[in-house]
Amino acid sequence: FLKPGEKGQPLTFGDVARTFKVNIEQIFGGIPAPDKAPLAAADVEGLDFKALFLGMKTYFDQYGSVFKMCFGPKSFLVVTDPMVAKHILKDNVKGYDKGALAVVLEDIMGKGLIPADPVTWKKRRKAITPGFHNKYLERMVDEFACANEALIPQLRKAARAGTTLDMEERYGSLALDVIGKAVFNYNFNSVDEESPVVKAAIRTLGEVEHRALTPLPYWKIPGANELIPRLKEFNEDMDLLNNKLYELIDRCLESRDPQELEALENKDYDNVKDPSMLRFLIDLRGEEVDNKQMRDDLITLLIAGHETTAAVLTWATYALIHHPHELKKVQAEIDEKVGDRRPTIEDIKEMRQVQNLLAETLRMWPAPPLLIRCALEEDTWPEGGTGIEGGVKLQRASDLFISMYNLGRSPQLWEKPDSFDMDRWERPFTNEKVKGWKGYNPELRRGLYPSEIAADYAFLPFGAGERKCVGDQFATLEAAVTIIMLLRRFEFDLDMEPVNPQLLGVEGPGEDQSIARVGMKAAATIHTAKGLFCKVRERFPEGASSSEASKELTTA
Ligand code: HEM
Repeated sequence: FLKPGEKGQPLTFGDVARTFKVNIEQIFGGIPAPDKAPLAAADVEGLDFKALFLGMKTYFDQYGSVFKMCFGPKSFLVVTDPMVAKHILKDNVKGYDKGALAVVLEDIMGKGLIPADPVTWKKRRKAITPGFHNKYLERMVDEFACANEALIPQLRKAARAGTTLDMEERYGSLALDVIGKAVFNYNFNSVDEESPVVKAAIRTLGEVEHRALTPLPYWKIPGANELIPRLKEFNEDMDLLNNKLYELIDRCLESRDPQELEALENKDYDNVKDPSMLRFLIDLRGEEVDNKQMRDDLITLLIAGHETTAAVLTWATYALIHHPHELKKVQAEIDEKVGDRRPTIEDIKEMRQVQNLLAETLRMWPAPPLLIRCALEEDTWPEGGTGIEGGVKLQRASDLFISMYNLGRSPQLWEKPDSFDMDRWERPFTNEKVKGWKGYNPELRRGLYPSEIAADYAFLPFGAGERKCVGDQFATLEAAVTIIMLLRRFEFDLDMEPVNPQLLGVEGPGEDQSIARVGMKAAATIHTAKGLFCKVRERFPEGASSSEASKELTTA
């Protein structure tokens, strides 16, 4: 991460060595660090890297909304304060980059948006953001419905046969199929079968997770790529995926069609045969972009948009299994507003229960539980609710996490934060102990979900500021369409042995003890420990949807 930011001088080894020196003096000499952040002196060695975000929650309860964790001389500040998060993500965004995250991702995503250097990022963000315009999203909502129509017969079959399905795995396949079509018009068809490309894509995502969970960059050790079997397999998978992506890019370049271009330019998506992001980027790219950059853009969208959405669906299903009253509210809204037809964007904009379900799920189980940053400059943070007078004084090259998991579970910011309560999104909440925080105000809600503005940076599932998720609307619509189409037709019961909480070193947090039943682990996203195994029940075995059901079963 020794690279220049947009302002100031490049970070040097000297900068990093200075942060190490301060940490060592603080740990061994008891000398207070100039940043004034309390040092989490707990058992860091006992931390489970597979559930680091949970360890950070334990320290948050003990040390407050800014503290420091040390791994040897290396330290990370952990932030759970909306005012500090706003400062880092919005007010002084140029003072930070993605630090260690870029190192983990660069082999896979190259110069894609997430790890890109500031100059590349600016150009590619400008090219990609307009791709997610309204007409594209409208067309995508139809694609989401199509993907669900492939899944519904399988669920119906499982319901009738009484078999158990791993819904986490099913949502993963659904999201992979959706993102393949949306990004490069490729049918992974993973809901129905497993192809070598799907296997390679899934294993590559596994490697991303593994790298994120490993403290040392083992893939950079000379010779490791030839000697370590998992790296050899990873490189073969990358070759396969790259070949496929370059083939799709070439095919898209060759199949340029003036009529299609005109339809795209006019956003006439009823007459666009290939609505994918790739087609948009190739046909409407303002400046020439080489195929390598195009590959990097595509794989970044694929990785960023796959497991995140699947995770929201998994945890929403999990939560509703344990909260039948909330399930009934969501189903009543679906029955009234949509019934058996495909939902539209307009429906979803009006479906407050579905929106609240997704918001509450993301508050309790934010898909990436942490954001990672590195300070390119010295900085002073606002005091907010940290209790650190005058705020934290940050050195150059300090690494930090913003914990969205802690933000969602903070008693400073939410009433009964460990309770799953969809109606909280209809009630205002504030706390004057968090200096400068305006609180959550439902009246400031606009669009599809309560944004960081409505919660004044206490709710950041999609990040905030200029690096905010480009796929937030896409993901919200995909999750909403799936929830609407599946909960109209089915209900789920958990069918699995409780996962031993000791296995992960975690007890279920607070009132939500039931969480221990499926366990949690995370790298890029929060997963269950072993899957979400469910029995499926049809809501209308003989009723409203039965003609649809018999048609599906004949075609399945
Ligand atoms: C960035 C969350 C779905 C593409 C981000 C960030 C978060 C996030 C927190 C900010 C990262 C940071 O600041 O370090 C989510 C969640 C999703 C989701 C919770 C699903 C519920 C998607 C989808 C796509 C996507 C569906 C694409 C189709 C991206 C990209 C970035 C990003 C490209 C990088 C943006 C940039 O740096 O300019 N996402 N995301 N995400 N997301 Fe998403």
